[in-house]
Amino acid sequence: MAIHFNEQTKIFHITTEKTSYAFCIAEHGVLEHLYYGKRIAGDDLKYIGNRQIYAFHAHESRDSRKFSAASVGLEVSVFNSGDFRTPSLVYDYEGNLDCNRLRYRSHQIYKGRKPIEGLPYSRENAETETLEVVLSDDENKVELTLFYVVYPSEDVIARSQVIKNTGDGVMTVQKAASMSLDFYGMEFDTITLEGMYLYERAQISRAPLKRGVFQNNSLTGISSHNRNPFIALCAHNTDEDIGEAYGFNLLYSSNFSEEVSVSNLGDTRLIMGLDHTGFCWTLRAGESLASPEAVMTYSDQGLGGMSRNFHDHIRRNIIEREYAFIPRPIVINSWEASYFSVTEELMLSLAKQALDCGADTVVLDDGWFRASTKTGLGDWRTDKQRFPAGLKGLSEKIHGMGLKFGIWIEPEMVNADSALYRTHPDWVLSTSKQPLISRCQYILDLTREEVVNYIADRITEELQGVQLEYIKWDFNRYATEAGSFVTPQGEVYHRQMLGTYKLLSILKTRFPVLFETCSGGGGRFDLGMLYYSPQIWTSDNTDPYARVYIQYGTSLAYPTSCISCHFTKGECTSGRKSSYEFRYRVAEFGSYGYELDLSEFSAEEKAVFKGYSEEYRKDEDLNLNGDLYRLISPESDKFCAYMKVSKDKNKAKLTFLELNATGLYETIVLRLRGLDPNTAYKNEATGEILHGSTLMNAGIRIGDLFGKKRSDGYAVTFTAVEK
Ligand code: DGJ
Repeated sequence: MAIHFNEQTKIFHITTEKTSYAFCIAEHGVLEHLYYGKRIAGDDLKYIGNRQIYAFHAHESRDSRKFSAASVGLEVSVFNSGDFRTPSLVYDYEGNLDCNRLRYRSHQIYKGRKPIEGLPYSRENAETETLEVVLSDDENKVELTLFYVVYPSEDVIARSQVIKNTGDGVMTVQKAASMSLDFYGMEFDTITLEGMYLYERAQISRAPLKRGVFQNNSLTGISSHNRNPFIALCAHNTDEDIGEAYGFNLLYSSNFSEEVSVSNLGDTRLIMGLDHTGFCWTLRAGESLASPEAVMTYSDQGLGGMSRNFHDHIRRNIIEREYAFIPRPIVINSWEASYFSVTEELMLSLAKQALDCGADTVVLDDGWFRASTKTGLGDWRTDKQRFPAGLKGLSEKIHGMGLKFGIWIEPEMVNADSALYRTHPDWVLSTSKQPLISRCQYILDLTREEVVNYIADRITEELQGVQLEYIKWDFNRYATEAGSFVTPQGEVYHRQMLGTYKLLSILKTRFPVLFETCSGGGGRFDLGMLYYSPQIWTSDNTDPYARVYIQYGTSLAYPTSCISCHFTKGECTSGRKSSYEFRYRVAEFGSYGYELDLSEFSAEEKAVFKGYSEEYRKDEDLNLNGDLYRLISPESDKFCAYMKVSKDKNKAKLTFLELNATGLYETIVLRLRGLDPNTAYKNEATGEILHGSTLMNAGIRIGDLFGKKRSDGYAVTFTAVEK
């Protein structure tokens, strides 16, 4: 069992293969956090709890000043209950904030897990176990259930909570985090993924923790291009391979918040969950509110170890099992090939090109129902002039060529210039007479069930009979003034997300194909979306030199198979030229495809591209189920290097990229990672045979390798030849 409860000490000890998480039922039924980190024995850890006496701290007992909620580690902290640190829960009952000390009542430990109604969550596997702890206030008006779901092999614990109004009155929740985690001490760096449109997650922002509150959040209505729900806490000396790293992420795709606060005592608290700005949720008698799920992992193998834990968890337990480990489509997508001027003729030409370059799926992006951003969203009527055979006819022709077909949609949106908006101006997510507009569109009010059903039915009708294998689901603006004519203001953002997940579920049931999500590039790259779509469009920036940073940053939290990457003209966002080889080397990092009009290229060039598709397929297993070892961060602005190694360590691929071609050939000896030290490997480029221990310690020389230009990037495969 991964979860142990010691009746004598009242300690819960949750173990994964390499980690331990411990808390206890302390004085007065308070849930006291004791430890999270490297696996330890199930000893009585109570000595670790802070029982010092501090002026101004309040106590439960008139006889003893030994216990104060303000000084001990807590599993949950309610505002106005004697703890002065950042709270994880803020609520009132009939307007009163008193009477909110939540105490242990009961717990249960069981195999498997319960789903979280309406929200994405880590899927159960054969090892999954759950600890459920129920707390309530003294008058039993409020009940809080904490869930700890354990994934032993991946060293991941998933946390969530449900708050319930068990009294007769009305309760209002102003903050309901998914988890709270206390550490004694503050010797951490925070790491977050900062960015912006065309530079999503490209800035790995690392800073030592200071006293005060550090916040990583989004207020855009999506997880956003600017910030990502992933956050790490690590020791100051942690690097890729060595040192302690705690990783956290949220299965949620809208406004989120992570607060890392350091108290006056120098202790650290991490709170993560729904962003509480403007949040106010009413619970009437018997009603409850479930939080999104937070996942956490720990590794003493540096940031690389932390990432690999998350990669395994995401592939094994978050992505739909049906898609997680099977080869992904190699798409050829119409967007960068023709933007809005896409026609049936162009699609059929792309289909021919797909055959030439080894793509297997032809994707009709935006433009099939409109010629610009101005109209069409919400109405979803195929432009019959440009698509005379309709979508059905086109899909049949494409299938007739032995290819698969995919289509782009943006179901959450409506154009201002649309029949839908003219008929239902109250169906958008704003109550303003003239709502703020972005990209000529508004967000539909998906807090309303009739809107969810309408849009699901309209899209279903339009796609009826179309032979589809892939759907790209986009979202191209941020929420502003988000309000609803029917939903209370404080509930709008979260109910909107619940409506979106509902819409995704409905359309996924009606169209059981691979969904790729997207949001103006990579504006909604999060675990919530990965629950529904095994891969996400990473960025509209397809210049490979910029993409290296974007993809590298993204890999801190997400496995390469989720990171959708296309070979394009390369210069569309930057004007910068790049060689084919370099573009391919960067794009094969994730799930590979094409996004350009190949009719301009010669037969020889297309043959080169076909070779790329074949190479990608040959090595795709490393993306789907390999381990990623990052060797050189592009933050050096000179080089980037990484390795993908199969789980059995029999195959590895090293990629080395030069970001700033100086023409100089400085000496670089690169020590490889992740190999079996006792196995000999054949360098497939040179035929040379060297042991894993040699390759990982003496390293390999990067120079004018194998007669190729260094500025084109290198990839070298190593294959185990003997044990
Ligand atoms: C933004 C996406 O990132 C692009 O790939 C493309 O689908 C456009 N939207 C279409 O409007």
